[in-house]
Amino acid sequence: MLTPYDLTCEYLTNPIGMDVRRPRLSWKTSADRRSARQTAYQVLVAESPSGLEAASTGQTTTGVLWDSSREMSSASVQVPYAGSALRPGQRCYWQVRVWDENDAASGWSDSAYWEMGLMDSANWQADWITPDWDEDVNQSQPAPLLRRSFNLNSDILAARVYVTSLGLYELRLNGQRVVDAVLTPGWTSYDHRIQYQTYDVTALAREGENALGVMLGDGWYRGYMGFTGQRNLFGNRLALLLQLQITYTDGRVEIIGSDALWRAIRGPIQMADIYMGESYDTRLEKPGWDEAGYNDADWHGVRLFDHSKEIVVAQVGPAVRRQEQIRPVRSLHSPKGEIIFDFGQNMVGWVKVRARGPAGTTITIRHAEVLDQQGNLYTENLRSARQITRFTLKGTPDADEVFEPHFTFQGFQYIAVEGFPSEPTLDDFIGIVLHSAIPPTGTFECSNPLINQLQHNIVWGQKGNFVDVPTDCPQRDERLGWTGDTQVFIRTACFNMDVAAFFTKWLRDLSADQLPNGSVPFVIPDALGRANTEIASASSSAGSSAWGDAAVICPWTIYLCYGDTRLLEEQYPSMVAWVNYLRSQVDQDYVWRSGFHFGDWLDYRGTWSLIPSPVTNLELIATAFFAYSTELLANMARVLGKTSDAQIYSNLAAKVKAAFKNEFVSAAGRIGPNTQTAYVLALHFDLLPEELRSEAAARLVEEVRKANYHLTTGFVGTPYLCHVLSRYGYTDVAYELLNQEGFPSWLYPVKKGATTIWERWDGIKPDGSFQDAGMNSFNHYAYGAIGEWLYRVVAGIDVDPAEPGYKHVLFQPQCGGGLTKARATLDSPYGLVVSAWELTDADFRLSITVPVNTHATIRLPAQSLDCVTEGGQPLTVGDGILSAQSADGATIIEVGSGNYQFTTTGLNRVKAMAGVRHVAGRLDRYSSLRDLLANETARVALIQLFGPDLLQAPMIGMVMDTPLEQLIQFVPHLLTAEKLNAIEAALNSTV
Ligand code: BGC
Repeated sequence: MLTPYDLTCEYLTNPIGMDVRRPRLSWKTSADRRSARQTAYQVLVAESPSGLEAASTGQTTTGVLWDSSREMSSASVQVPYAGSALRPGQRCYWQVRVWDENDAASGWSDSAYWEMGLMDSANWQADWITPDWDEDVNQSQPAPLLRRSFNLNSDILAARVYVTSLGLYELRLNGQRVVDAVLTPGWTSYDHRIQYQTYDVTALAREGENALGVMLGDGWYRGYMGFTGQRNLFGNRLALLLQLQITYTDGRVEIIGSDALWRAIRGPIQMADIYMGESYDTRLEKPGWDEAGYNDADWHGVRLFDHSKEIVVAQVGPAVRRQEQIRPVRSLHSPKGEIIFDFGQNMVGWVKVRARGPAGTTITIRHAEVLDQQGNLYTENLRSARQITRFTLKGTPDADEVFEPHFTFQGFQYIAVEGFPSEPTLDDFIGIVLHSAIPPTGTFECSNPLINQLQHNIVWGQKGNFVDVPTDCPQRDERLGWTGDTQVFIRTACFNMDVAAFFTKWLRDLSADQLPNGSVPFVIPDALGRANTEIASASSSAGSSAWGDAAVICPWTIYLCYGDTRLLEEQYPSMVAWVNYLRSQVDQDYVWRSGFHFGDWLDYRGTWSLIPSPVTNLELIATAFFAYSTELLANMARVLGKTSDAQIYSNLAAKVKAAFKNEFVSAAGRIGPNTQTAYVLALHFDLLPEELRSEAAARLVEEVRKANYHLTTGFVGTPYLCHVLSRYGYTDVAYELLNQEGFPSWLYPVKKGATTIWERWDGIKPDGSFQDAGMNSFNHYAYGAIGEWLYRVVAGIDVDPAEPGYKHVLFQPQCGGGLTKARATLDSPYGLVVSAWELTDADFRLSITVPVNTHATIRLPAQSLDCVTEGGQPLTVGDGILSAQSADGATIIEVGSGNYQFTTTGLNRVKAMAGVRHVAGRLDRYSSLRDLLANETARVALIQLFGPDLLQAPMIGMVMDTPLEQLIQFVPHLLTAEKLNAIEAALNSTV
């Protein structure tokens, strides 16, 4: 029997305030057996729970909004509501039942609901209001309080608040905070879209006098934004738009809106700014200001503010909320005399403080990600962001005062506390972790604790940088929605958390901010374009390859991971505009040479002047991304049934690929400047003709080896590097890269104690000093894109683009790198997917879970079917196993839903890892002198060949980190090819 559960509407559980006219409904299904599928569904939607109950028990009833009847379909994800038109504020209760492949019906699911929002800007009866005073908008101002009292009758059935603001708001009703969401209404392309939120305040509204109170803050709207030190990028006046809608039991509706009757005053927040922090003076609080009966006679009035309501749209996706609390793990006194608390985790949010002391005492809290080498708070990398919160006590001798900021957030692991009225203790501070409330969906773990810490760091990078907008970093004067960073990380993000609705919102902003010529700004919302200075103006801060391509790559990724075709439709004009923009940038030869590009941003560059840095030229990167985006667009046109577009864009992609080959690929298969990134892009984007691919892959491997199994890639090449290696049969080399602990590598920061992903491979250098403070964030998710490889290749969970959203799950783990086990879980749109493998001396075991209503293909490292058992029995077709065959050293098994335990026996560990040519720490001709000398056997081999003088050779220190193979050119008299071979042979036989 099937059981439908976990009903969601537009990715959310029981959302209210939806403006989607045909919202999409999804459910998951559980079953008590394998290979269970849905063959039909029936959705019932009714105006009331009783109507739903009546309809589902077959009684005739009114108020049924949609009865889909029995629909012969396996669709259980994003089924569009197709009932009668919905009205503003309407609540829709719904249930589903399903039929399985034997035509057995499930029971009805538990009921769920969604509620419509205002739906149309014409339904705003309230006006924008702003405090009636003039102020110096060139600097932070005290945050205004706005209030209004009003009377309500008895018999309140329901009360909703629809609210938004220019700037940020915190809403209170009758003395209570209305929601736990913070930083509302969030950050959008404010000129085009301002989100409103809907809150159910039925429990707070009461008969008689009531009071609404709203505090406003500068936020992203008019605070400091971007690295040019500017304010007021979106506007310079704070304003409120609010509509409280009361429905009485007799059906009457009363509206209390923001209007000229509101009152305003400057409140206790002396300044609040996203980058700078917040100063709160408790002595300036207005006790009772948000309650009925408060005398606001000495308050100012408000002005009606002329601002569009047409651009006010319902919130999409989750708001930012307090997600976790972290206590400091230790306190210390720095050499400078600072009292420092360490939270043990680089986090994003703010610190809640508890203190007791005399009135007027000001506690100052400075935030930083790291301590310097001496152990002092290190804030240089924050650039102009201050990240300081100040809290002035009102002095309550018998009670603690507790303070939390309102309109700011900080990126930090450490705080330095000044002015505390007594010796502060660990218990006086709590780190409040803030991020968009995107539910976690994925986990990854394996037998290497360093890689597990890397996964931890990736997840924390995502938490800290998913604060309403996907940002580059959360601490310095940036925190911007960099498109390049977003596109490289999005696939990893989709594993770790349910980000579909989060990106739906951001992509709408991307479309809104796209320039008329189709170019895509570097950051979304386009704060840099609005800064409009010499270094940044709308057109000069847009159009970089690999950054603008987010317009295409992000919708495609959401489609792959969630099967969302509506998003593709919605974003289609934006994608077309971007690709057409690219087309307009090239001449007849289709090579993109013009414009500004970030290139392989922050790629590793050696510092030794004798060896050139591996820099990949901008034209190559730009042309590669042009081909890639065009091909993805063609794919998406095909998905949407736009066949002629599909043809047009695949023809264009073919031309660009040909141009790429012509311009950048030599007859001998050398690509561009021979860098890792050049090969990676050419191979990952399928830019080469079939016959050149394996040669290119071999050359890539050669480049990796020459770098002593280190990567030299930056933002652009890194995300695809391991994928390309594993796709072309070099998973061993990919593992070698992953296992590197020396700089540059993913594990180098882990070994340095990182708890998030760093912006630079060497944010903290091997000697303990810092990278350039001008750009050295310790919480930058871009290099965390390796997470995708951990899930897709190490654990082996992948999607089939032909059946996206994990309707067809691929399990194809690739062992290696010395791992003895790995396990990943993913709460997919259809339910839980699990892939867990273990390698013993005798066998390879793979346990998988395939959700109901999906099917899966498993690829096992087994030469023949005889080597494979399932659940301890020989592999036979039946009980969920649909087919099995062996080919090319692997066994391919098709299964229906359920749990399976496969074991490949008869394989010893070495065989199971067939194809693994390198294990972590292998020494060969590409190893550095330093690594070789650190190994006793290698050291002996070297000294035997070169004689004991080797270590005394002048300048030996300079070449310690140079691969042995590269030393040939500098000391040909000492190190001949024969000697190199001999050393390698010695290493192979013994090391
Ligand atoms: C940001 C990035 C971004 C880059 C592009 C940096 O300042 O932090 O991550 O992609 O600029 O220039």
